[in-house]
Amino acid sequence: MYRRPIFAANWKMNKGPSETQDFVKSFLQKITDRPSADIVIAAPFLCLPTLSESLREAGGIEMAAQNCSQFDDGAYTGEISVKMLREVLVRHVIIGHSERRSIFGETNAIINAKLKKAREVNLKLIFCIGETLEERNAGQLESILSSQITEGLAGLTTDDLDHTVIAYEPVWAIGTGVTATAQQAQDAHAYVRSVVASIYGDDIAQKIRIQYGGSVKPNNAAELMACPDIDGALIGGASLEPQSFSDIIHNGCAPA
Ligand code: PGA
Repeated sequence: MYRRPIFAANWKMNKGPSETQDFVKSFLQKITDRPSADIVIAAPFLCLPTLSESLREAGGIEMAAQNCSQFDDGAYTGEISVKMLREVLVRHVIIGHSERRSIFGETNAIINAKLKKAREVNLKLIFCIGETLEERNAGQLESILSSQITEGLAGLTTDDLDHTVIAYEPVWAIGTGVTATAQQAQDAHAYVRSVVASIYGDDIAQKIRIQYGGSVKPNNAAELMACPDIDGALIGGASLEPQSFSDIIHNGCAPA
């Protein structure tokens, strides 16, 4: 089945509003021959209005937030609600990134609450999962992925799944320069798809897009994207430069 590729930049805590403007100006010059892929930029909250303004003329490139609150509004100092994100025209939200899990203590239950909250306002989900090296070496890859998926998606409907992208990001490959081999990534993606099939059925499992994340670079994008179950990439470090982000998209979309 054809699944439209989706490339998302995850800037993490990098770039302020003025760097955001500079990035977009340069990126739009490099991505003129638009490949047939979805392109998403996940910027820090503070940059989202600037990003929206800068992308307005271009069209076709969508914005994501990197997190959201699981609460509606009220006394939650420092948090950003899903309604606030919609108000500044955000379309997607990354939830469950391994840095949120490991540094900020987000459990599968918290991630599940955030995913549901985001769907209440019709945000599209980029739902991240992935195992640590210890877990992989202990033979727990499948049980970790399976519980992250099952507990993370508990209560989400098939309609919610139609608006969900899963990002498989082995924690040991994030920001380390160590990429999973194409075979390791493909095996994990096929397993993720089988878990989705066991919960939601084959149709949804065949439709859902699964991105790979973890040290994706211009020189490995094509090989990863050639794998049958890899439908895009979530890119951290290499998305900070307009040239490398656009090279990843072009290389990833080039026929294998
Ligand atoms: P990386 O980050 O590309 O810098 O490894 C990926 C991510 O954390 O989403």
